[in-house]
Amino acid sequence: MSSAWWRSAVVYEVYVPSFADGNGDGLGDLPGVLSRLEYLRRLGVDALWLTPFYSSPLVDGGYDIADHRAVDPAFGTLNDIDQLVRKLNEAGMRLILDLVANHSSSAHPWFQAALRAGPGSAERQRYIFRPGRGATGELPPNDWESVFGGPAWTRVPDGEWYLHLFDRAQPDFAWTSPQVHADFERTLRFWLDRGVNGFRVDVAHGMVKQDGLPDAGFANQIQLLGRGSLPYFDQDGVHEILRSWRRILDEYPGDRVAIGEVWASSPARLANYVAPDELHQVFNFYFMDAAAPVAFRRVIDRTIGLAAQLSAPATWTLGSHDTHRTVTRYGGGLLGVRRARAAALLMLALPGAVHLHQGEELGLGDVDLPDSALRDPMWTRSNHTVRGRDAGRVPLPWSGTSPPYGFSAVGAAPPWLPQPRSWSGSTVEAQDGDPQSTLELYRSALSVRRRVDPMAPLRWLPSDEDVLLFARDPGLVCAVNLSTVPIDLSQYGKPTVTSDPTGGGGGVLDPETAAWWAT
Ligand code: GLC
Repeated sequence: MSSAWWRSAVVYEVYVPSFADGNGDGLGDLPGVLSRLEYLRRLGVDALWLTPFYSSPLVDGGYDIADHRAVDPAFGTLNDIDQLVRKLNEAGMRLILDLVANHSSSAHPWFQAALRAGPGSAERQRYIFRPGRGATGELPPNDWESVFGGPAWTRVPDGEWYLHLFDRAQPDFAWTSPQVHADFERTLRFWLDRGVNGFRVDVAHGMVKQDGLPDAGFANQIQLLGRGSLPYFDQDGVHEILRSWRRILDEYPGDRVAIGEVWASSPARLANYVAPDELHQVFNFYFMDAAAPVAFRRVIDRTIGLAAQLSAPATWTLGSHDTHRTVTRYGGGLLGVRRARAAALLMLALPGAVHLHQGEELGLGDVDLPDSALRDPMWTRSNHTVRGRDAGRVPLPWSGTSPPYGFSAVGAAPPWLPQPRSWSGSTVEAQDGDPQSTLELYRSALSVRRRVDPMAPLRWLPSDEDVLLFARDPGLVCAVNLSTVPIDLSQYGKPTVTSDPTGGGGGVLDPETAAWWAT
């Protein structure tokens, strides 16, 4: 197996609107990212994944793209990207961009042209326009539902409907159109030529829809995401598109990668996406769902087993800009932080690649936002029943004791989502150098992880059922105590790293803490 960088990389997700604001408009941007590179280098990550910064009306945080090859002025300039590539490479880090190919923004010139050109035109062939059902075409062409709630179709004034699996401002491309293929090849090359190291492929299971667009046949389809089959996701045809992109990546020097955001109905279907002629990796959302020891063991064994069969690296993540923050998922408050710290040590001890979500290294939880602050299209599309993903996307706290906590300069426009008063102890500045802080835990763990042979396999050691105990030989022993009583592990001596802020005195592991011993 090759030892290419991405096989054991720690990839840090920068959700650009919420990372750092360089121009004082309350929205994060590329100059903001550039100003924080030293922080990321010191944290010890190998690569940044930047969420979209392309030209966009920002209906879905930038995942509604009007020009895939332009930087939105609200986020910066192409020159910022060139600088990022250069500076990251100088610091030994890499840059991964988001490739959003399932849909564009409704402001995309192609979609605007399709609206103008009318039914039957060549311009409509690049999106999915269909006549409606019912006597006067007043019903949508089929029963598909938007991932954000409501029907997946919107009717235009001339009577046709267009498909949008997400917001109505995000029309789905027709991947039956050769022009769509050609345009994305251009986009890939545009960014690869500028030196980016690869792509995170948004909705990599989308793009191709089942022939004839048949009804799904039931409601609440989104509950099947990642669990069951749907006529608009995980169709076999997507693999051909992904393979054509892999051929392009492979033309470039320096191990360029494609990491897929894939929701498939089973781990086996998910595995279909990873191959020497397809994606290098997929996000592993199954790890996030585990809570009980047996569930952790099962998902770890399955992930590693499947990865071995595919000669691909296992991947691990505790969250992204689409999920609740780990601290909140694990119960919130101090208990949530305690568990999230233990989960981080577990994840960082596992073999393979890791995807971190900005702010998890600060132990941040979801923020309770007032209704009036919510911006996620899920909130409006669900008729104000689903609050959406904003709670985990609140701009990062860097310094100071009150908002904007150094996210923007003092006197700038307020952050686009309000930060809570309770974050004064969670800033980077407050945690920097404090050995009990979550930031220092991540820094230590990432630096010890770097010294572990990435090829070292995981070997379970005998333990109580409620304790996860394994070795990476050579490298480290990791223990996670998921029971309600302290466990004596003093035979290993004093831990090298522990999630227990009190230091895990003398090798006794308290409930809901984890520790590492370097070997
Ligand atoms: C992906 C992104 C999500 C976005 C959606 C539509 O799931 O991670 O944030 O809303 O695609 O582009």
